[in-house]
Amino acid sequence: MRRLLVLLAAFALFAPLALAGSTARPVRYPEGYRAWTHVKSMVILPGHPLYDAFGGIHHIYANPAALEALRRGSPFPDGAVLVFDLLEARQEEGAIVEGARKVVGVMEKHARDFAATGGWGFEAFKGDTRQRLVTDPAKACFACHAAQQASDYVFSRFRP
Ligand code: HEC
Repeated sequence: MRRLLVLLAAFALFAPLALAGSTARPVRYPEGYRAWTHVKSMVILPGHPLYDAFGGIHHIYANPAALEALRRGSPFPDGAVLVFDLLEARQEEGAIVEGARKVVGVMEKHARDFAATGGWGFEAFKGDTRQRLVTDPAKACFACHAAQQASDYVFSRFRP
């Protein structure tokens, strides 16, 4: 009986931990993000170490909850969403112009659902589709974003 109680107590203690690891749900597609606030843009050219994964021109967008946190420089609340909209970049008559959409990268904040990756759900959708590309967000995304712990794992700053 006593052993059973100990077992039960151990289960009660550790079951929530085991569940916490498995509660990560799919990140939602950021419907309508093109009408959100544009935060910044960058062109990653051939020769840059991240060219293979992120080469092209990207624009970053914030939904209202994310924008508020970016402006205040405070941690992001549940429901904040940031989008990394990556397009091909083509050189054309002395200008760099947008090409086809390559990837829609998403960070969705929900402290409990995505506890294992800093409270952020990471996903990448292929081109103009809803096809999910990320199988291991901890390795493929969070490992690098972890360096930005001081700004709640977000690299971008908002320029007024
Ligand atoms: C090697 C490092 C690295 C990896 C891996 C990485 N990112 Fe990022 N990410 C960055 C950097 C640097 C920026 C800022 C880009 C800028 O300033 O324009 C960024 C920006 C972002 C943003 C905009 C918010 C912010 O932090 O500025 C999103 C959304 C994003 N990444 C999603 C992802 C997703 C999803 C993955 C995994 C598929 C991923 N990232 C993997 C380095 C990385």
